[in-house]
Amino acid sequence: MTRKPAANGDSVRAREVTDSLRRQVREELPEVAQISDQDLQAKAVEAWAYALAHSSFKSIHDIPPAGNPDVNEAKRGDQTDHLRGVTRLAIGIAREMGAAYPELAIDMDTIIAGGLLHDVGKAWEFDPVNRKRWKSSQRHFGRPSIRHPAYGAHICLTVGLPEEIAHIAMAHSGEGELLLRSLECMIVHQADYTFWNTLLAGGQLKPETVSPDKRRYVLDRPS
Ligand SMILES: [Fe+2]
Repeated sequence: MTRKPAANGDSVRAREVTDSLRRQVREELPEVAQISDQDLQAKAVEAWAYALAHSSFKSIHDIPPAGNPDVNEAKRGDQTDHLRGVTRLAIGIAREMGAAYPELAIDMDTIIAGGLLHDVGKAWEFDPVNRKRWKSSQRHFGRPSIRHPAYGAHICLTVGLPEEIAHIAMAHSGEGELLLRSLECMIVHQADYTFWNTLLAGGQLKPETVSPDKRRYVLDRPS
């Protein structure tokens, strides 16, 4: 009988979620203060604090400004610019569509929390310690073992966030094609794609990180 090779690679050792980490998250994502439900606001902070404490990142600023690891990476900024930009775009869509069609009854708290948390799973998928482990033993773990949408849903549910927010983390990206998105999830999804596609068309993504299906935007581009 052949033995399965031992899985190798280190895992991240979790840190404690402290009040100073919670304060830091509030500073890094100031839009969280716009969530009117105080319990939802506290749990949104908790989700990012918990995700950071279970990663080797000390801050959301340390996570690169990319859609996936090494894919669609902005020339400048960090992950807070993406989260805040998507949240503000989603608020704009919700306000304008809500003004034109009040019967949509868009839940603004869900939009804000969903925008700030849709990529909370990137603390896992982008973590260099995890990426090294997956790369060294892809056969054992997969690469990645879990993408950021699924890990983000796990984080949301772990800290007690409502199902509607976990759904936005889960379905904002390609995974959402396998199910039907909620109204607020569709808005965050559109804001997310608008963010990356605007940077792409404006020449603000690092060319070497642009995915093959969009490569034409960066080939032969006048500098
Ligand atoms: Fe995103």
